[in-house]
Amino acid sequence: MKKAQVIVDRDYIVGGVDKRLYGSFIEHLGRAVYEGIYQPESPFADGEGFRRDTLALVRELRVPVVRYPGGNFVSGYRWEDGVGPKEARPARAELAWQVTETNQVGLNEFARWCKKAGCEPMMAVNLGTRGVEDAKNLLEYCNFPGGTKYSDLRKAHGYAEPHGIKLWCLGNEMDGPWQIGHKTAEEYARLAHETGRVMKWVDPTIELVACGSSGLTMPTFGSWEATVLDECYDTVDYVSMHQYYGKRDGDSANFLASALDLDRFIASVAAICDYVKGKHHGKKDIQLSLDEWNVWYHSNEADKQVEKWSKHPHQLEDVYTFEDALLVGSMLITMLRHADRVKIGCLAQLVNVIAPIMTSDTGAWRQTIFYPFLHCSLYGHGTVLNTIVRSPVYEARDHGDAPYLDCVAVHDEEKGEVTVFAVNKDLAEDMLLTMELRQFPGYHVKEHIVLHDDDLLAVNTEKAPDRIRPGYLDTATVADGVLTAKLPGKSWNVIRLERVEER
Ligand code: AHR
Repeated sequence: MKKAQVIVDRDYIVGGVDKRLYGSFIEHLGRAVYEGIYQPESPFADGEGFRRDTLALVRELRVPVVRYPGGNFVSGYRWEDGVGPKEARPARAELAWQVTETNQVGLNEFARWCKKAGCEPMMAVNLGTRGVEDAKNLLEYCNFPGGTKYSDLRKAHGYAEPHGIKLWCLGNEMDGPWQIGHKTAEEYARLAHETGRVMKWVDPTIELVACGSSGLTMPTFGSWEATVLDECYDTVDYVSMHQYYGKRDGDSANFLASALDLDRFIASVAAICDYVKGKHHGKKDIQLSLDEWNVWYHSNEADKQVEKWSKHPHQLEDVYTFEDALLVGSMLITMLRHADRVKIGCLAQLVNVIAPIMTSDTGAWRQTIFYPFLHCSLYGHGTVLNTIVRSPVYEARDHGDAPYLDCVAVHDEEKGEVTVFAVNKDLAEDMLLTMELRQFPGYHVKEHIVLHDDDLLAVNTEKAPDRIRPGYLDTATVADGVLTAKLPGKSWNVIRLERVEER
């Protein structure tokens, strides 16, 4: 059995966890909106046409914020198509995904759905085919109380109260040549700055996210962020990052080390933000919004067969394996280890489209990746402790030395809890983890949740929705201020420690 040592200190902290780290994303894409969250003809639909089974699972995940309506979709979107009487809404040829958009769901329905799901919307404006004027009108429609053309239009549509949407994305992936209205960094920087300035005049309480790179491997990565933030430093609050991973061959060990790449990506973008801050003699930190992240590759081939201009076809329906859940766990650990800079995270996406939740005519079920996300969303709150990990390493083809153990500890002072999230990437051996609980006297193991299976490729499906689900181990103990826990080979672990008052 391999051994790893973890050291934390109560006063040696990374930073507070922003609850928006556990956000998600719904795009008008595939069956995310239609059949995912909205399906009036389904027996699962409520009076407004929203699927109750999906809502229950979204509530279970406690998702605080959901990005909408895209994604690539937003870069050709006319928000006016999706408001007002449904029978008058136009169907459109949707160019980003080459399908027909019926517009039966728009921003008002989405805002209603968010209320039911217990989350806040994070809205994106179209900076592909549109610009300042339409972003201004949309914001006025959403957030202005009344007495103006667009706020009164919202009222006329049956929404007397403003939606009060706080978080806005200035476009989507504008660095990507696939994007409708793709721009150079300079073109985008000017447009984002001017749009953002006007939006903050309409509502100074909003927060703005500028588009960063669509991935670390983009040829313009680095210079894109520097150019955009140089122009937008005074206007924006966050820069976005998007990152997906796939297993292109049979190399599981290499795939499971992909979070090392995310770690580098985050550190680099944070450094660029600080460079721009320094250049501007600024006081404000630009923070990071990792507003698309996940595993995405299983559906790539099937998506080539999608019938053009069909309505909400099966698209990007990755069926996630157990090993995908391990990588999602490692990605969450990486985000937490950078909690001082990564303030917003959106697991892309939420339902049916590269998603933790799937639906069919018979109901909704949890994919494997649902669980690490759930555990972090439930227990990953408070302050991230600087978690020193001494672990044996292996050579991962694309990533160099990869520790067998990924780990982070989070301290919730109010609740008197410390939660340790850990992935043992060793495909064969168990690992003995010891963690010195310096300055955490009186802490005991409350529970040790584990997600483990011998088959890395096991999946949850409509017919076998619980093939992969968490269990519990009872071998973790605290003795003489040291936590000892056995982590099975290839496993996701959540070790919950709580303070027990001495009598
Ligand atoms: O999430 C799927 C797509 O991935 C989004 O539309 C786009 O922003 C990204 O390329």
